[in-house]
Amino acid sequence: MSTKKTSVARGGPSDKITLSVIKADIGGYVGHSSSHPEILTLARNALARAKRDNLLIDFHVTNCGDDLELIMTHRKGVDSRPVHKLAWDVFLAGTEHARKLKLYGAGQDMLADSFSGNVKGMGPGVAEMEFVERKSEPIVIFMADKCAPGAWNYPLFKTFADPFNTIGLVIDPSSHDGFDFLVHDVRHDKSVLLHTPAEMYDLLALIGSCEHYLVKAVYTRQGEIASASSTQKLALLAGRYVGKDDPVCIVRCQSGLPAVGEVLEPYAMPHLVSGWMRGSHYGPLMPVAQKDANPSRFDGPPRVIALGFQLANGKLVGPRDLFDDPSFDLARQEANRMAHFLRQHGPFEPHRLPSEHMEYTTLPGVLRKLEKRFK
Ligand code: F6R
Ligand code: MG
Ligand code: MG
Repeated sequence: MSTKKTSVARGGPSDKITLSVIKADIGGYVGHSSSHPEILTLARNALARAKRDNLLIDFHVTNCGDDLELIMTHRKGVDSRPVHKLAWDVFLAGTEHARKLKLYGAGQDMLADSFSGNVKGMGPGVAEMEFVERKSEPIVIFMADKCAPGAWNYPLFKTFADPFNTIGLVIDPSSHDGFDFLVHDVRHDKSVLLHTPAEMYDLLALIGSCEHYLVKAVYTRQGEIASASSTQKLALLAGRYVGKDDPVCIVRCQSGLPAVGEVLEPYAMPHLVSGWMRGSHYGPLMPVAQKDANPSRFDGPPRVIALGFQLANGKLVGPRDLFDDPSFDLARQEANRMAHFLRQHGPFEPHRLPSEHMEYTTLPGVLRKLEKRFK
């Protein structure tokens, strides 16, 4: 379901800004640990041309580990063909350059042969929202590496539904009615809208299952978009293992929405997410500054960065690197301790994912070899 349908209806179409975050792993440097600077430069040059041509209002290019992230503002709405085509073309040109440098897994997430109108279902991940920019519009964009999109379930629940995390739910009259969660069932491609706090237990019954149900979007009770996440599952698209999805998530903040600090607070607990080495392990999600988003130990542990922007008529004022703050040192230490503890389990569960979630890894190839020997 598009987040467009329930976005706020104030003002004419031209008043609305669209924020599109489109990302792909088009090649790792070195291995799957980070991105090559020349690929980032190539992307910046391409988006600067699109800005000069008035397709984009503004953009910011960054990377989280081996994922290239294109943060773009425009007035074309969500699922815009020219904006998706622009992202696709950047990823194609980046892939070509990655091949020249023989970067690892060049073009990894480019699952389709040619562009067909929208990058959704073609490999890249997308989080988009359209809204009327408020008097002041603080936003946080989360970008993760070495994990699945279920990684957002826990922090989004904490931010928008847990009064122990978000004191605004208790003491701010404009948040007191709670928020609505759009939950996507990735196995059956269906969605359900649940209201919190009234349906909090139903919500948790679903989203506690992070591989099956994903929080796709969060809305205010008035239907204004507050958060949008990428929920693409590469393995389900490709039918085979092609690396983890490494999702992105946009959150609008303040003035009746959770404060920036309430949006960041869940990450003080480095919760366990699936991904890490070979997309086959649970590991803690470590909040880091962008410069530290280069997962190397056992191809991890999984990372998340948070870039904050103030929007000014679509201009991206920023970023502020929000996890570049000593108050997240403890979370990083804890994540390292947890990572160290889990690593000692080696190939044993629960460090390794349970069998049903290993289906889209390289394990079935090994099991097939043993099939005939079972008597
Ligand atoms: C995780 C990831 C890496 C690779 C691992 C093996 O998302 O991409 O951990 O799975 O480095 O890669 P291959 O099989 O390509 O050597
Ligand atoms: Mg990769
Ligand atoms: Mg990645």
